Amino acid sequence: MTSHSMDLNKIKDLNITPEGRITVDYVKGILQPTPTCESWDQIWNFQAKPDDLLISTYPKAGTTWTQEIVDLIQNNGDIEKSKRAPTFVRMPFIEWILPGVGSGLERANELPSPRILKTHLPIELTPPSFLEKNCKIIYVARNPKDNMVSYYHFQRMNKGLPDPGTWEEYFESFMAGKVCWGSWYSHVKGWWDIKDQYQILYLFYEDMKKNPKQEIQKMATFMGKDLDDKVLDKIIHHTSFDMMKNNPMANYSMVSSEIMNHSISPFMRKGTVGDWKNHFTVAQNERFDEDYKKNMANTTLTFNFQF
Ligand code: A3P
Repeated sequence: MTSHSMDLNKIKDLNITPEGRITVDYVKGILQPTPTCESWDQIWNFQAKPDDLLISTYPKAGTTWTQEIVDLIQNNGDIEKSKRAPTFVRMPFIEWILPGVGSGLERANELPSPRILKTHLPIELTPPSFLEKNCKIIYVARNPKDNMVSYYHFQRMNKGLPDPGTWEEYFESFMAGKVCWGSWYSHVKGWWDIKDQYQILYLFYEDMKKNPKQEIQKMATFMGKDLDDKVLDKIIHHTSFDMMKNNPMANYSMVSSEIMNHSISPFMRKGTVGDWKNHFTVAQNERFDEDYKKNMANTTLTFNFQF
């Protein structure tokens, strides 16, 4: 065996493309990073505990922001405590596995209760144990245009996901649901449809931007926490975009720069509503609106695309 073929085998074993990116595969028709597909049985059989709180989102809907808020609510606004570890250690991402780096499942199993966990799985792929144990779940949705733009830039900088291609190419992939964690439409509608049957608080990124106090208060009430105004204001301040951008425990700068390259696009990129207007062409916008109308005809769920 030549050293060259050995290298190729090594690359194949780790599910890494020659460009150094993770490969992807399908789980029940949904695109996922290959390591997640390979551990699917373990993920599906994850055993939730009744006092687990699950934060569920489509990727780039404001997960990290919500995680920071929820961690602070749980710890009564203790800022020092929120700096004990990076987001992905404090609140494990259950289906996330990067060979040689870590596994969300392992981290979750090591965590003392009450646990805060994160998932991007659509409802049909979410480990059934969460619903069986009637865990509290906070779902956050973001308008699909900003969500798409954010996801595109994230895939550019993150080797844990496929290369997004050009913006034009990505626009097509996103509309077709051919991105990791599948179609935005099925995701937001799937969780919306079951929200009243379980303990699910369904929130929106745009509302959190517009009225953070009100939305943080909703989360606190849902979690059974009675926080005074001073604590609420402290949480609002600490979880503002600028504060989180400069917080190494929340801005993903703790991930190796070989995986996430913030000089291509920072994880804390813009944090605004309506940035899609700087990306969508007029033609793309018309096509998107038409497709959106069709896909959303069968739901009461609505979105704000701008303020
Ligand atoms: P942009 O790429 O539009 O800036 P997720 O955590 O689900 O991956 O979502 C990331 C998106 O949420 C990014 O959006 C990021 O900037 C934004 N974000 C993170 N923290 C935020 C905050 N405190 N306020 C507003 N937006 C935030």
